[in-house]
Amino acid sequence: MRYVTAGESHGRALTAIITDVPAGIPLEQAMIDHDLARRQVGYGRGGRMHIERDRALISAGVRLGRTIGSPIALTVANRDWDNWTDVMQAAPGHLREEARVKAPRPGHADLSGILKTGTRDVRDILERASARETAARVAAGAVARALLRQLGVEVRSFVASIGEVSIGMLQNPELVDHRVVEASDLRCPDAAASGGMRLVIDQAQAAGESLGGTFYVTATGLVPGLGGYAQADQRLDARLAAAVISIPAIKGVEFGTGFASAAQVGSQVHDEIYHDVVRGYHRLTNHAGGLEGGMTNGQPLIVRAAMKPIPTLMTPLASVDIDTHAVVDASKERSDVCAVPAASVVAEAEVCLVLAAAHIEAFGGNNLMDIQVAQRAYLQRLSSW
Ligand SMILES: Cc1cc2nc3c(=O)[nH]c(=O)nc-3n(C[C@H](O)[C@H](O)[C@H](O)COP(=O)(O)O)c2cc1C
Repeated sequence: MRYVTAGESHGRALTAIITDVPAGIPLEQAMIDHDLARRQVGYGRGGRMHIERDRALISAGVRLGRTIGSPIALTVANRDWDNWTDVMQAAPGHLREEARVKAPRPGHADLSGILKTGTRDVRDILERASARETAARVAAGAVARALLRQLGVEVRSFVASIGEVSIGMLQNPELVDHRVVEASDLRCPDAAASGGMRLVIDQAQAAGESLGGTFYVTATGLVPGLGGYAQADQRLDARLAAAVISIPAIKGVEFGTGFASAAQVGSQVHDEIYHDVVRGYHRLTNHAGGLEGGMTNGQPLIVRAAMKPIPTLMTPLASVDIDTHAVVDASKERSDVCAVPAASVVAEAEVCLVLAAAHIEAFGGNNLMDIQVAQRAYLQRLSSW
């Protein structure tokens, strides 16, 4: 399963096209809209999210509530487009000089983008580099999630820290109460930590600052052996890391105990192997985060990611006017102060897309029924192995 997206932040709409989708997967617009709404939640988000009410129009690949094996096309309209038609129109026209963006923001795609493409208007870059594009990724990810649900796989996320306020280390991140997470505007399972997180977000906003943080994505119901150990591009850890780090502002990804394991000895890190007739092969710990040798090992997948602070600051950093090279304040767009909760939902989508592709590789991709039969046969073989 692969996807591409198109669309500018203040353009008419965002589009996602997802290919290699097996036939027969139950899929309704409401399932996609549910994830789009989850991406819009979050204490610390900017005014834009009050304007948008994201909905995914399914314009191809689904008939009578089921996928038909064709590419799926999804369109998410930008309500804000109505306020930007003069600046963002596709038709030839003349842009007012004061509408041109000339002060690239440190930490954003602005400077490298104008140098790369040769434009004299930073808006050509920022419109597409904007994380508004991640709404299209979430829509694509909802298609992958629809397949995974039929295979017993659940992908979830929660926020573990904002700035320096953290819920601390968790033994079993896959066991957090997701009703609490989904009810929280910080997507945080810890009420006490949430109070501190709101406070630091308020303080950052008052100071014209921004914040990042960390979040977990977990997946349960995975059979062992998804991905592969034989070639670099088969390794599921590499594919998951690339998918999560492709999200704007994500700067670190770890699996299981990840970076902490570098300071430990081997016996503290590796999960000992046991077997009994009821559970078959099993482990008592999951330091590996569900991945060994580039494959799932049957344990829950545990991914943790680090998001840097949002680059657009209301108290702007120094920049340079691209016409005069004079020192100026970096440009300001309407912006989030903190978007870690939203990023966690985007990361769910990316993880869903990688896991769905791994299932199709392992069990076939023509139609849902064949995949389910193959998955059951595989599990049957493993039960006697
Ligand atoms: C859900 C989400 C929302 C974001 N919102 C903003 C924002 O409002 N303003 C901003 O400057 N950056 C925002 N970002 C981050 C930028 O898109 C990102 O930092 C930028 O594209 C540069 O990419 P890089 O940080 O990966 O180098 C957001 C990122 C995500 C994932």
